[in-house]
Amino acid sequence: MSEDAAVESRWRVPLSDIAVDDELADAVLETVRSGWWSMGPRVEEFERAFADFCGAEHAIAVANGTAALHLALLAVGCGPGDEVIVPSLNFVAAANAIVHTGAEPVLCDIVGPGELNLDPADVEAAVGPRTKAIVVLHYAGFPCAMDAIDEVAERHGLVVVEDAAHAPGASLHGRMCGTLGRVGCFSFFSNKNLPVGEGGIVVTADEQLAERLRLLRSHGMTTLTWDRHRGHASGYDVVLAGFNYRLDEVRAAVGLVQLSRLIEENEARARIAGRYRGALDGVEGLTMPFGDDDNERVSSHHLAVVVLPEAVDRDRVRGALGERRIQTSVHYPPIHSFTHYRSVGQRRPLRQTDALATRILTLPLYGSLSDEQVEAVIEALLGAVQTL
Ligand SMILES: Cc1ncc(COP(=O)(O)O)c(C=O)c1O
Repeated sequence: MSEDAAVESRWRVPLSDIAVDDELADAVLETVRSGWWSMGPRVEEFERAFADFCGAEHAIAVANGTAALHLALLAVGCGPGDEVIVPSLNFVAAANAIVHTGAEPVLCDIVGPGELNLDPADVEAAVGPRTKAIVVLHYAGFPCAMDAIDEVAERHGLVVVEDAAHAPGASLHGRMCGTLGRVGCFSFFSNKNLPVGEGGIVVTADEQLAERLRLLRSHGMTTLTWDRHRGHASGYDVVLAGFNYRLDEVRAAVGLVQLSRLIEENEARARIAGRYRGALDGVEGLTMPFGDDDNERVSSHHLAVVVLPEAVDRDRVRGALGERRIQTSVHYPPIHSFTHYRSVGQRRPLRQTDALATRILTLPLYGSLSDEQVEAVIEALLGAVQTL
């Protein structure tokens, strides 16, 4: 946060924060001064760098993570008459994107308090004759049970799309999240591990899919303004009805700087999450889901989520932390609890999601959080849970 933003902020410990410095500002200024602002060389460089980082064959940068999901679902062929399985404990973007393809979201349950990710057994139970795809989420940056989900997908001939918005740099069995399914989608919203403001990217190993994604991103046009500007093309055809979901050069320039910092950012987050875990897990009835990283499953530690004791009123805990100017949040109110989604999709019992929805609480987590801030959060939370 800049000093100006800090002065304006009511929070002593905001939920998320961006480290702003000259390198970022210079990257923006240099791009502005280049005179080329719409999708061009920096976007191409960002795509290459992100694909290399993930170990993916192709990366297609887009306007935001929701656009990434929308294009991925369309590119794998989701449409009217299809059902797509997605966890209800999730940001609403994937469900909305499913609806915008014309398909129907089928909301699924999570494993339980220790594992807030999609339950493969409930995925199996949700599969029907119209199921086309599963959109998995690596909740909070912890890779979900891809082995078991892949097994269900393979048996029923389903496509797996990864919502890896929380998980850049997370890995399972040494493979990066985003490259575990047929196609992976990332978000670069301001609160993400790789913050750009707005932005997203789709990664895939499938060349035909990548080509379709590129076309869908830019109106189905066969060449870009940039291609014509640099003399690589003089005209274009339109081969499908696509969108304008392009990323611009300024954001790509920010993305390149942020990508160079991602490993360091994730390591700092891991250290802070470890301190939260050490001080909170099992204390005063609190639990920190997921457990520590190991060689097989490495989290990107996007969110620090605690599960409060059943008897504790979450709003009062949030109020107590708020009085100390510590910002908290809830990730997420389940999708099936929202007005629109009460009448969309099938009504399935989501017992674990319902049982945990009122108990989950997200604490501040970002690489530049100071030791004092972390201690203040821990002390305030333990105090609130003891007294409320
Ligand atoms: C899990 C998840 N999926 C998708 C998105 C959508 O990304 P965006 O805000 O970039 O559209 C977000 C974040 O905002 C998210 O947290």
